[in-house]
Amino acid sequence: MTLDIHQLRRDTPGCTQRIHFNNAGAGLMPNAVADAVLAHLDLERRIGAYEAEAAAAADLADFYQAFGELLHCRADEVAWIENATRAWDLAVHALPWTAGDRILVHASDYASNHLALLQLAKHRGVELDTVPSAPDGTVDVEALAAAIGPRTRAIMVTHSPTHDGLINPVHAIGAIAKQHGLWFVLDGCQSVGQVEVDVKAIGCHIYSGSGRKFLRGPRGTGFLYVDVDLLAIMEPPFIDLHAGSVEGSGYRFIDGTRRFECWETYVAGRLGERAAVRYLLSLGVTQVTTRIAQLAARLREALAAEASVTVLDHGTRRGGIVTFICRDEAPTATMLRLRARHMNTSVTGPNAAPLAPQWATHAGAVRASVHAYNTDEEIAQFVAALRER
Ligand SMILES: Cc1ncc(COP(=O)(O)O)c(C=O)c1O
Repeated sequence: MTLDIHQLRRDTPGCTQRIHFNNAGAGLMPNAVADAVLAHLDLERRIGAYEAEAAAAADLADFYQAFGELLHCRADEVAWIENATRAWDLAVHALPWTAGDRILVHASDYASNHLALLQLAKHRGVELDTVPSAPDGTVDVEALAAAIGPRTRAIMVTHSPTHDGLINPVHAIGAIAKQHGLWFVLDGCQSVGQVEVDVKAIGCHIYSGSGRKFLRGPRGTGFLYVDVDLLAIMEPPFIDLHAGSVEGSGYRFIDGTRRFECWETYVAGRLGERAAVRYLLSLGVTQVTTRIAQLAARLREALAAEASVTVLDHGTRRGGIVTFICRDEAPTATMLRLRARHMNTSVTGPNAAPLAPQWATHAGAVRASVHAYNTDEEIAQFVAALRER
């Protein structure tokens, strides 16, 4: 199966409006996604929201099946959560921590995860150990193994970080976690949709992500995978009448990862996120992820050839995120200059990835993130626009 780029662009009306290199912020929704959301909102308007939910029961159930196919896990290991941050928090706070437990983290971690761990350290007494980077900026797997001590309980890393094109060696990390019996929590927010993900092959126990980024779903949607074997020792921090039930004078949670969900949700968004996963699966995950990596490599190469541009990405293996700075121009000024020409990027910096080494020498970076519907022509126009100041 090869990708029909013209069809991809016809499926994506935003392509005619903008050069959209902000897929790490939010990908452009294809028609299939926007139609699913709008059709459901319309049904809610016409027949009532509870009645519309009942009418959409089959597609709502397919949300879990679709994610199971995408992540190579069981449908009952998936929950719908409204964003990646909450998904990650809910799972991490559900683990049975003991004061003195040590968690291995890395410089490529996302700010919100790090903040949550600082809070966990303050209130539950866990301790954080930052694993050094390999020369290419990714998690140093040997140093990781060497850092494991008798109190180490978990490894928490980011698959593809928010601020850098690198992709961490998650399979090797998973093997180490397994060998030492550690919980492996993987932030997949920027990897799902741009990197092939098989949670069982990786060996992570928890994997969280959002719908709006490389999956191209609607905003306010996300998901959580938790390995069914780990659920037995986890206690979700919240329970409601969807996640559990009263049993005598106590309570019990429902089976599966859906115990992390809440009864009330954004039903149209769930349907849109499900449509996004089905759309991606119909295109072929390998085809989409391969094209993203190729386009990003060509963008990086074109930017590196510009005398006034410095590409900041690390990593031997790199994905769809390209970060750079322009000489004598603040990243925000570059982003706004491009936006005035209908070219979308975003800016990243220490607020998003506080431990990253780039910020020792740079205040921030422009983040250009491509998707399969982008083209070489767009890359050429983008680089030409950067040159014209
Ligand atoms: C690596 C990474 N993790 C987590 C998040 C948080 O995702 P959300 O905004 O859906 O909570 C982001 C958002 O940019 C991210 O880049």
